[in-house]
This record gives sequence, structure tokens and C-alpha cells, in this order.
Amino acid sequence: MKLFQFIASAVALCAAFSVQARSLDEIKKAGKIIVATEGQFAPFNYFKGTTLTGFEVEVAELAAKKMGLKIEWKTIGFDALLTGLKQDRWDLVIASHGVTDERAKAVTFTAPHYCSGGMVIAMDPAIRSAKDLAGKIVAVQTGTSYLENVQKVTTIKEMKNFPTDVDARSALTSRRVDAWVTDRFVAKEVVAKNPKAGLQLGEMVFIERIASAVAKGNQPLADAWSKALAETMADGSYAAVSKKYFNEDVRCN
Ligand code: ARG
Repeated sequence: MKLFQFIASAVALCAAFSVQARSLDEIKKAGKIIVATEGQFAPFNYFKGTTLTGFEVEVAELAAKKMGLKIEWKTIGFDALLTGLKQDRWDLVIASHGVTDERAKAVTFTAPHYCSGGMVIAMDPAIRSAKDLAGKIVAVQTGTSYLENVQKVTTIKEMKNFPTDVDARSALTSRRVDAWVTDRFVAKEVVAKNPKAGLQLGEMVFIERIASAVAKGNQPLADAWSKALAETMADGSYAAVSKKYFNEDVRCN
């Protein structure tokens, strides 16, 4: 095969397989937005039996409704969520992603739907703050913002990464690690729901703004989502869902 033929067929092959992120108009025409989440991060996105639910799932449903759209949900490992936007496997991701400069290089973030941060949880009541993590073995979920933020504040002995946050928690309760760093609201719920597990709520390590993400550059979709979210925050529906899950309003202020 001649070089130009090879290039021509390679280009054709790429065109056949590459897909473009759906535009806001295409999504509106379809009447449906494809939203991906993890489904293993209670109380934000999780399964109750076979039903996907949680604060983020309900907030997304509210926002989509404002846009006149139905949601087709996809659930997949946390690691694959943002890359799936690039591959046009879904239109939007809502899975408690903190807005970071690193992620913003790869995706476009919408306005934040809550503010939170990483918190220390341990079995040993002496391990409470970021500085108490010095020389300790710490569990975090792979690909989360907890890793870099813990490393920023202290020199730990070892960071153990787990595919889900639930696995990171199990590592702590089975005492394979000294501490677990997770979302403040996840931590509060786990401790409240397992009063006999001996889990000690520590301090916040850092704070972050949590937002949905769309394919890099899909600003019209991000803007429409942010506007719909703002409407849910203005009409009391966001506040009701927030109160139901957290007994407080978790929006950023
Ligand atoms: N907020 C953290 C981050 O930005 C954790 C997100 C974890 N989300 C999840 N669905 N497991 O990385």
C-alpha cells in the first residue's frame, strides 16, 4: 500500500470511529441527556437495592427537568467517568468531582452543586488532623482529590488506593490502614450509621467545590446546566433535597 493510500484509509477509519460530543441542540432534540455517575458514593450517588439514588441523582433530575430533558443514567467506575466524556459515551458526569486545575484541562465544569472537603476518619482517636497523618498509612479512593491534598499537607508513610471509597472504608474498619480520607458528608453519614464501628470523625484536610463536568469546550451545555441548577436553587427544590439528605443546605456560598 502506498503511503498516501495508507493515510487516506487511516483517516477514514478515524472518522468512522471518532464521535463528537453531542451539542446542546442535539440533546434537546433527543429530549434526553445521558448522565454518568459512579453509584458507590453514598449519600451522593448510590444504589438502594437496584435503584440509583442520592443527593446528586436527585439534583440532576431537578436540573434536567428545568431543561425539559429526561435523564438516561449510566453507572461506571469512578476512574472512567471523565474520560468517557471525551469518548462521547455520555453528555455529563455528576459524581462529586472537586473542581481542580488538572481536571479542568480535560473537561469543562458547570457551576458547583455543593461545597465540601476531605475529612480524616480513623479508629484511633489520636488521629484527627492532617498533621496526625504523618508517618501513617492512609486509604483513599483512586483518582480522587484526596490523594494530592493529603500529600500537600503532610508526609505520610504510605497511601493505599482503592477502586471505590467503600473499599477504602473497609480497609480502615479491618485495620489495614491507620486512616481514611473521604468527603466530609460521606464520613458523617458512615459514622452516624455505624455507631458501634468505633470510627472517629476527624478534621477537614481541605475544602473543594463540587461540580458536574461536560466534554471539554461544550460550554453551551455547561451553561444550560448551570442555569437550570441555579433555578433549582432559587425555587426551593434544591434546598428541600439538601435538607432531606444532610439536614442543612450544602450549596457553595
Ligand atoms: N470529591 C472527591 C474528588 O473530587 C471524591 C469524589 C469521589 N466520587 C465518587 N463518586 N466516588 O475526587
